[in-house]
Amino acid sequence: MAILESYIDRHADAFQRNAKVMGAAVDEFRDIEQRVIAAAEKKVPRYRERGLMPPRERLSALLDVGTPFLELSTLCGYMQEEDRDGSAAGGSCITGIGYVAGVRCMIMVDDYLTKGGSITPLGSAKRQRMMRIAIENKLPVLTLAQSGGGNLKLLGDFFGPSGAGFAVQAKLSAMGIPQITVVHGSATAGGAYQPGLSDYVIMIRRQSTVYLAGPALLKAATGEEASDEEIGGAEMHAEVAGTADYLAENDADGIRIAREVAGKLDWDKRLQASAEVAYAEPHFDAEELLGIVPEDPKTPYDVREIIARIADDSDFLEFKSAFDVGTVCGHMAIQGIACAVIGNNGPITAKGAAKAGQFIQLCEQSQTPIVFLHNTTGFIVGTEAEQGGIIKHGSKLIQAVTNASVPKISIVVGGSYGAGNYAMCGRGMEPRFMFAWPRSVVSVMGPAQAGSVMRQVAEAKMRRAGQVSEEMLDALEKDTVDTMAAKSHALANTARMWDDGIIDPRDTRSVLGFVLDICRDADARQITANTFGIGRL
Ligand code: COA
Repeated sequence: MAILESYIDRHADAFQRNAKVMGAAVDEFRDIEQRVIAAAEKKVPRYRERGLMPPRERLSALLDVGTPFLELSTLCGYMQEEDRDGSAAGGSCITGIGYVAGVRCMIMVDDYLTKGGSITPLGSAKRQRMMRIAIENKLPVLTLAQSGGGNLKLLGDFFGPSGAGFAVQAKLSAMGIPQITVVHGSATAGGAYQPGLSDYVIMIRRQSTVYLAGPALLKAATGEEASDEEIGGAEMHAEVAGTADYLAENDADGIRIAREVAGKLDWDKRLQASAEVAYAEPHFDAEELLGIVPEDPKTPYDVREIIARIADDSDFLEFKSAFDVGTVCGHMAIQGIACAVIGNNGPITAKGAAKAGQFIQLCEQSQTPIVFLHNTTGFIVGTEAEQGGIIKHGSKLIQAVTNASVPKISIVVGGSYGAGNYAMCGRGMEPRFMFAWPRSVVSVMGPAQAGSVMRQVAEAKMRRAGQVSEEMLDALEKDTVDTMAAKSHALANTARMWDDGIIDPRDTRSVLGFVLDICRDADARQITANTFGIGRL
């Protein structure tokens, strides 16, 4: 046993200040989430008149009572695309992992109250990410659909590659991962292929409309006149076309049938249940995680203070602690699941990279999942570092991180700069899950450094031309600093789907426990693949 000690003084002014600033950042992202819900709420009466349940009510009816639901990417699209004030964030859908009839599933609910549930480029990225998580973690996919389909104002920006969303659905089916869809409303044109590519389709009498061209478009295109029901109603699809497998009477009935289908999958029949392991909670209060990261990102802090508050019993067996102090590696367990952790106490040196690379190979040998706690300014620079082979060692670390087949989970707790982000299993290295703390930063470099580099480049160019304008250089530097700062903070990063969501630091242990359990089950689960996916004949 190697129980970590803590050296923070929770009564110190600095700690209190840090906690206040982090607490405010948590409130900020929670407020935005609430703003989206409040904006949607205003539209509910109009749909209730039509007998429709709001999206979040559908979600509650779907989930097993009293079970956890990990919602993902709540702020996808925040202040991007058509979102002007944060009230349309979320990618017009709710995604997350939860339990349906005892089966842990990936769940997607179209948020038809936000832009009609229409799909923007970032909304499409969120939907595709949801399906990739399902593939990697062998989770059945349950969709409650009601969407305007591709966002016709923005489709021009992403139509070409947008077919990838359907390709992933086809792959899921062929891998042996079932997809169950309830069509609660309209599924038009491209949107009709979502249920079309699902394995089990439930439609609702006099409510679902699934067609390639609706009555208006049909009349304009061919002159034919037909009603919604004739070309896309649930009864037509159940009795004539065969696109629907089950006919429901209303929203609640459709969800009831979806739950029954999920239960009938007997999804866990071949999964040997993992033995329940007793574990002790950390010795230190999770509340203290708010005060650990300094308000000023330049002030260093010890990542072991975080580990002490997320590891079972605060037990952490550090690997090669004397070899390099900037990169911290070791073993711990979270909620009884053994895992490794790699964290930063500053920039990554050649020795730190070599140590982490060796440690990753050991994790691969023992098939131990790895948690990355990002807080690095990147790889160390300078003559000594270059001569010491920092590129060589850093590249090999990136190689080890990328090719390790064990589950990798990234949490950006502080800064994650430059190639340090790659070495710590940033988004590009495809960790199984990636979350961010509210004040974290992911960027190629700090805004001030970027501004200074651009100033020097422009100044050299001006000198060659024989005319240096300090005013223009000041403006260029300021613009670079401002742009970089605006595009590297946690809200901007999560909005662009660079992670799977911002989390409250205090939830880090429970989120990690939840996803580590998913990864463990996925590795143990056998599924039976087929070549072409399930045909609807
Ligand atoms: N692209 C962009 N915006 C869309 C959209 C689309 N495909 N479908 C709906 N919206 C927007 C509407 O402009 C409206 O925006 P607002 O909230 O800013 O006013 C919002 O979604 C709600 O639409 P509304 O028509 O009022 O809702 P509804 O519940 O009465 O009808 C639909 C929903 C989906 C049946 C209807 O909007 C529709 O037919 N959309 C077009 C469907 C289509 O042809 N899609 C092509 C897919 S390739």
